[in-house]
Amino acid sequence: MAVILISFLIGLTVVSATTFDPIPLIDPLIGTQNGGNVFAGASRPYGLAKAVADVDASVSNAGGFATDPGARITGFSAAHDSGTGGNPSLGNFPLFPQVCPGDELDNCRFRIGDRMVGWKEGSVTARPGYFGVELENGVRADMAVAERTAVVRFEFPAAGGGNGTGTGGWNVTEREEHPLVLLDLTDLWQSRQNASVSVDADTGRLKGNGTFLPSFGAGSYVMHFCVDFFGADVFDSGVWVNNRAGTEPKELFVTRGFNLFFIEAGGFVRFKNLVNNTVTARVGLSFISAEQACRSAETEVPDPVAGFDGLVGAAEDAWREKLSPVSVVPGDGVSEDLQVSFWSGLYRTMMSPQNYTGENPKWDSGIPYFDSFYCIWDSFRVQHPLITLIDPVAQTQMVNSLLDMYKHEGWLPDCHMSLCKGWTQGGSNADVVLVDAFVKNLTGIDWNLALEAIIKDAEVEPLEWSYHGRGGLQSWKKLDYIPYLDFDPVGFGTNSRSISRTLEYSYNDFCLATLGQGLGRSDVYDKYIARSTNWQNLWRADQKSSINETDTGFTGFFQPKYLNGTWGFQDPIACSSLAGFCSLTSNPSETFEASIWQYQFIVPQSISTLISLLGGEEDFIRRLDFFHQSGLADISNEPVFLTVYLYHYAGRPGLSAKRIHTHIPTSFNTTNGGLPGNDDSGAMGSFLFFGMIGLFPVAGQNVYLISPPFFKEVAVTSPVTGKTATVKIVEGFDASYANLFIQSVKVNGQPWTKSWIGHEFFTEGWTIELVVGAAESDWGTKLEDRPPSWTGGEMSV
Ligand SMILES: *[C@@H]1O[C@H](CO)[C@@H](O)[C@H](O)[C@H]1NC(C)=O
Ligand SMILES: *[C@@H]1O[C@H](CO)[C@@H](O)[C@H](O)[C@H]1NC(C)=O
Ligand SMILES: *[C@@H]1O[C@H](CO)[C@@H](O)[C@H](O)[C@H]1NC(C)=O
Ligand SMILES: *[C@@H]1O[C@H](CO)[C@@H](O)[C@H](O)[C@H]1NC(C)=O
Ligand SMILES: *[C@@H]1O[C@H](CO)[C@@H](O)[C@H](O)[C@H]1NC(C)=O
Ligand SMILES: *[C@@H]1O[C@H](CO)[C@@H](O)[C@H](O)[C@H]1NC(C)=O
Ligand SMILES: *[C@@H]1O[C@H](CO)[C@@H](O)[C@H](O)[C@H]1NC(C)=O
Ligand SMILES: *[C@@H]1O[C@H](CO)[C@@H](O)[C@H](O)[C@H]1NC(C)=O
Ligand SMILES: *[C@@H]1O[C@H](CO)[C@@H](O)[C@H](O)[C@H]1NC(C)=O
Ligand SMILES: *[C@@H]1O[C@H](CO)[C@@H](O)[C@H](O)[C@H]1NC(C)=O
Repeated sequence: MAVILISFLIGLTVVSATTFDPIPLIDPLIGTQNGGNVFAGASRPYGLAKAVADVDASVSNAGGFATDPGARITGFSAAHDSGTGGNPSLGNFPLFPQVCPGDELDNCRFRIGDRMVGWKEGSVTARPGYFGVELENGVRADMAVAERTAVVRFEFPAAGGGNGTGTGGWNVTEREEHPLVLLDLTDLWQSRQNASVSVDADTGRLKGNGTFLPSFGAGSYVMHFCVDFFGADVFDSGVWVNNRAGTEPKELFVTRGFNLFFIEAGGFVRFKNLVNNTVTARVGLSFISAEQACRSAETEVPDPVAGFDGLVGAAEDAWREKLSPVSVVPGDGVSEDLQVSFWSGLYRTMMSPQNYTGENPKWDSGIPYFDSFYCIWDSFRVQHPLITLIDPVAQTQMVNSLLDMYKHEGWLPDCHMSLCKGWTQGGSNADVVLVDAFVKNLTGIDWNLALEAIIKDAEVEPLEWSYHGRGGLQSWKKLDYIPYLDFDPVGFGTNSRSISRTLEYSYNDFCLATLGQGLGRSDVYDKYIARSTNWQNLWRADQKSSINETDTGFTGFFQPKYLNGTWGFQDPIACSSLAGFCSLTSNPSETFEASIWQYQFIVPQSISTLISLLGGEEDFIRRLDFFHQSGLADISNEPVFLTVYLYHYAGRPGLSAKRIHTHIPTSFNTTNGGLPGNDDSGAMGSFLFFGMIGLFPVAGQNVYLISPPFFKEVAVTSPVTGKTATVKIVEGFDASYANLFIQSVKVNGQPWTKSWIGHEFFTEGWTIELVVGAAESDWGTKLEDRPPSWTGGEMSV
């Protein structure tokens, strides 16, 4: 019995009342250093084509470009992911421009290690829809994109010993050398298994495909390309292998060689009669066929030379439109840097997932198809809630894509990239993405199908649970926890993380209960609300924690438990920033990418119960403070996000406000290294956004925790209802943020004592007015004013 809400308002055009333009406040280079892995190049919102200069693997190059010292440019490629960890993703079929010394083909440098080159200092320009750089070899490269097509314009240094711009000034240059552009049959990770290229001797068109490996997943994918050149005539063309090239043959098939050794190879074209010393390459990409890549390119970018500026302008407009629901009145004295952090973070949220509609070779359901959910363990907490808020149409398409994967692949993914299944990090957290969309009333989703998919996660263990579903379900059902060193002959995965999986499965079951309740299925609700308490079974009341043999003074932590009920042991600080990193492959442990200290707070369904377990409010706050101040908290990874705001649940919302200001701008700033860790497809950017607007979502629940915004006023217009929600500081705003504490709140003019509010605030276009001051007040302190926690029976609201 489904309650399907139908809205006739979807697609309503949002009319922006102001002429404010956020584009100049976006800096795509934030997060391009120290492993932020942000994609800094030209992209449209959710675009498949993402063009940028790629740098070599001596630095962290997962996003293609990086500004770390020593990085050198290896090529220019047109598909990327943004902010991801794992191996470097995509970066397929890079082009590289050069002039062969003496015009001798054999003097050109083909292999990456030979050809890579630095760039001229200060020559990088990055803004939405555009990326440009000048190489040390004198070639200038400018990039723009359409949805599936990239345009890379190479301007070569003047011909003939630099006697100006050629014999005809800005006319056609008669050069003695013939600039070369090569295409490399590789990706950033050199994961290519085999590939083909052919070159058309008359037109210079390069066509082909390659089979590659997903950078954090299973299987392989095929990508196809179609490259055309404009603004010059073909001088000659051919293929290259290792460091030799020839004008015959005109095609090539390459595999991995002896011992799977990687062979560098590709195609090339040399040019004559260049206009303005420039060759413009148009790169079409497709996951279906080279013909489809050519067709997209021809349709999307008929004239890449004259159309270049228009492409940049169209991409800017697309970004403007996507960002238009949000507007800000910064307030006197608020730095431009804070605004740049804010808008850049919001911008990065819409790089991925990517819109691969019409590009899925595995099925075509006739509805939009998104991929690059990379990974949901990162994105379920704040990124999907943010897309739900400012681009609900896209979020609906993403949820439907996840359900489409369920239909065709049998399971919801926890991670998915390049049309392949990605590795699961913890629970089945697509469940949370679906239920978050449900509690926020997104329409156009088959909620009964969603219920079916989530129940399958909860009930059926797949043979291979490293890339979908859950492991250890027999034990989960029988023992109500995931045992340490489980005996599980039913399915296979990385048999670690018993504590973090127990916690995440508990919350996944809570979300399932929520959906069951919403759909009127009390049977589902009763069953899974009971299972959502399973986390308590790993609570070891007498466990202590020491740092360097000094007791921290806190007693009671989660611990691993064997099948037979005997406790195992994991040091509560293990896997924290103080004690080494734990992932699926490096140092796998009973918690994933964070410590027991971190995971003790990951019970978003029942924080009030947790507070009791930890000895009451005061002890809870002492513990939370210790966690944040001792170096145990790791602001560079997603599990930490909600812990910044947990003070709300102990009646001290002012301490949450204080805590967020210790991270912004200290760890999130406008430098190229201005992110504390991988952006993770925009997860860090989303954390910044919600932190700065003063409304923090608890994913999977209809709850935003209220704290003072960093700006005097922020407004968000719902693209669904067209109504505008506003949060503003009406008294006490101060840009030095001494007045961090909410004194009183009004919603639509009426006093509001609760420290949280629901999504109706946004869809109904309410107004929150805040009075702030320099000392904590009693606002939000009373038991009944705290955010909801499930304590048995109903949620305590
Ligand atoms: C410029 O260089 C070209 C090519 O080397 C040469 O033909 C031409 O005479 C030169 N022009 C001048 C003004 O030096
Ligand atoms: C370009 O070439 C045309 C025809 O040869 C000539 O009339 C014109 O002056 C040239 N322009 C420049 C800027 O040299
Ligand atoms: C290319 O490699 C893939 C993955 O190993 C393989 O399935 C495919 O058969 C290969 N193609 C050719 C033509 O050898
Ligand atoms: C890749 O291109 C080659 C050469 O055109 C072709 O024979 C092959 O079928 C293509 N592979 C795929 C998977 O389309
Ligand atoms: C060549 O450069 C000149 C001067 O910037 C410009 O006016 C002209 O449009 C360019 N030609 C082409 C084909 O881009
Ligand atoms: C994704 O692309 C398809 C096909 O172009 C389009 O119909 C759909 O609206 C796009 N989705 C978004 C959110 O832009
Ligand atoms: C969702 O719809 C229900 C029923 O119309 C309504 O009571 C609730 O407030 C809505 N929730 C949100 C978040 O808009
Ligand atoms: C533990 O002691 C060592 C050696 O004195 C010191 O280097 C390290 O920083 C200490 N670790 C913590 C977490 O205090
Ligand atoms: C339970 O199993 C663990 C691991 O095999 C073992 O070390 C422990 O002694 C067992 N406890 C009991 C009570 O048998
Ligand atoms: C900017 O953020 C980075 C990453 O969190 C941090 O290491 C750096 O100290 C910050 N810089 C400034 C000037 O705050």
